[in-house]
Amino acid sequence: MTGSHAIETQSLTLRYGNFTAVDAVSLKVPNGARHAIIGPNGAGKTSFVSALTGSVRATSGGVLLGGQDVSRLSQAQRVRQGLARTFQINQLFTGLTVLQNIQMALIEQEGLSQVFWRAIPSRGHLADEARALLALVQLESFESTPVASLAYGQRRLVEIAIALATRPKVLILDEPAAGVPAAQSELIFERISALPKDMTLLFIEHDMNLVFRFAERISVLVSGSLMTEGTPAEIRADDRVREVYLGRRGHHALA
Ligand SMILES: Nc1ncnc2c1ncn2[C@@H]1O[C@H](COP(=O)(O)OP(=O)(O)O)[C@@H](O)[C@H]1O
Ligand SMILES: [Mg+2]
Repeated sequence: MTGSHAIETQSLTLRYGNFTAVDAVSLKVPNGARHAIIGPNGAGKTSFVSALTGSVRATSGGVLLGGQDVSRLSQAQRVRQGLARTFQINQLFTGLTVLQNIQMALIEQEGLSQVFWRAIPSRGHLADEARALLALVQLESFESTPVASLAYGQRRLVEIAIALATRPKVLILDEPAAGVPAAQSELIFERISALPKDMTLLFIEHDMNLVFRFAERISVLVSGSLMTEGTPAEIRADDRVREVYLGRRGHHALA
């Protein structure tokens, strides 16, 4: 067991046909870390996360979760082992309240057959569990609000609460503030960073100010390969990183 790492990839590689999207990426993230992956559009960040979580099958390489090899497990099995990722916005039921959305996720997670056998009083238990999840993202006061009436940033927090329903040890967030007005991005990251300290967070984010503020360590992915890894101060001072970003347009530029 290399138990000190929550998640580790060993030469993880993902090819789409002849194109190598993720090229032998070896990454180690310690327990409780707040670790960011950055890189230009098309660098392979999402592909890496997909291979890591098992939503696509890696071409080669390994994934260890808490020191255990999960490379051959399905995505659902990896979720049960404590590896979760956030879901997309279209999976929320906009006509239902915030609390009902979380309850739906809990019901889904427990399996419909179990719900069928459950007596009605046990739904109270589901509501308590849903409230506990909402508290993790500090949305308790919105439990009766229909999702349709929430700001996009708050919807994103509901999705995060749903991902937390599986009680992950490692939570992966692929651009959690994407599509959210800039003014709400900071709120999302503040809530994410306030999650329990023993939860390991691996996030992809293109806004450098958010990355430098909320990540403890940063890995830079370029053309499918890890270019470098370091603290925010080290990455900020790295000329190669600067070149990669300054070579691209506006919003990627380092502040
Ligand atoms: N399903 C796919 N089939 C073929 N090519 C893909 C697929 N998904 C992504 N790619 C390509 O892989 C590269 C990396 O994409 P992606 O992982 O989405 O990068 P990032 O998240 O860093 O923007 C891009 O060139 C993209 O066009
Ligand atoms: Mg992406």
